[in-house]
Amino acid sequence: MNNPRKQIVAGNWKMNMNFQEGCTLAAEVVKGFSYDGTVEVILAPPFIHQAAVAEILRGREGIWLAGQNCHQEASGAFTGEISADMLRSVGARYVILGHSERRQYFGEDDELLRSKVDRALQSGLEVIFCCGESLEIREAGTHFDFVAGQIEKALFHLSEEQMQHVVLAYEPIWAIGTGKTASPEQAQAMHAHLRKRVEAQYGPAFAERQTILYGGSCKPANARELFSQPDVDGGLIGGASLKANDFLSICASF
Ligand code: 13P
Repeated sequence: MNNPRKQIVAGNWKMNMNFQEGCTLAAEVVKGFSYDGTVEVILAPPFIHQAAVAEILRGREGIWLAGQNCHQEASGAFTGEISADMLRSVGARYVILGHSERRQYFGEDDELLRSKVDRALQSGLEVIFCCGESLEIREAGTHFDFVAGQIEKALFHLSEEQMQHVVLAYEPIWAIGTGKTASPEQAQAMHAHLRKRVEAQYGPAFAERQTILYGGSCKPANARELFSQPDVDGGLIGGASLKANDFLSICASF
């Protein structure tokens, strides 16, 4: 396989797993995963699990820690918030930004996300940037422009050097946690569209190396077909990342 892009399977645990359960899950994933130099694995546990999961991942190749969110300011009086530097300091390499649940339930808009992206990159984190349309937008037929608009507004001010530290994740909202996966063709069409927009901004060589993940009801039964699409470089997994066997089987789906 001479794929120019990094292939990634990331598990977004969301607000699931108590501390003990989370440590057990991380240990099971570590035990079952062996890095062969191709697919990288990312675990995104809740904040209070981060330091312990970092210990569990320590010394393991090809498996990284991610936060699920971070604040846009460096530090200060923001009770209850977590900074990008804090995530870095416990050993996180990535942070997920722009998830539709953050946009929907916490009012995060493109402008805020742009400042979060800037902060994360300044702190030395890599960003997994999520985008995706609602069912209404898909039914109205404006999904390609809408999703491309999300990445343009929050990311396209970045220099090429900065953009190298961004992974895109297309997660159609109607497919998240619904059991209704985008078809491989639907995923491929959107990924190819996003790659074209990246190409228009950063050039063909850059776009060819841009990792674009798919998320939304991805599971062992459909991962192989999704990941075999030419522009799908892996997955951002919610529900199925909470069971070690399912998650590991998705990791082995390339
Ligand atoms: P599900 O895999 O549970 O549909 O969630 C996808 C997701 O939102 C990952 O960030």
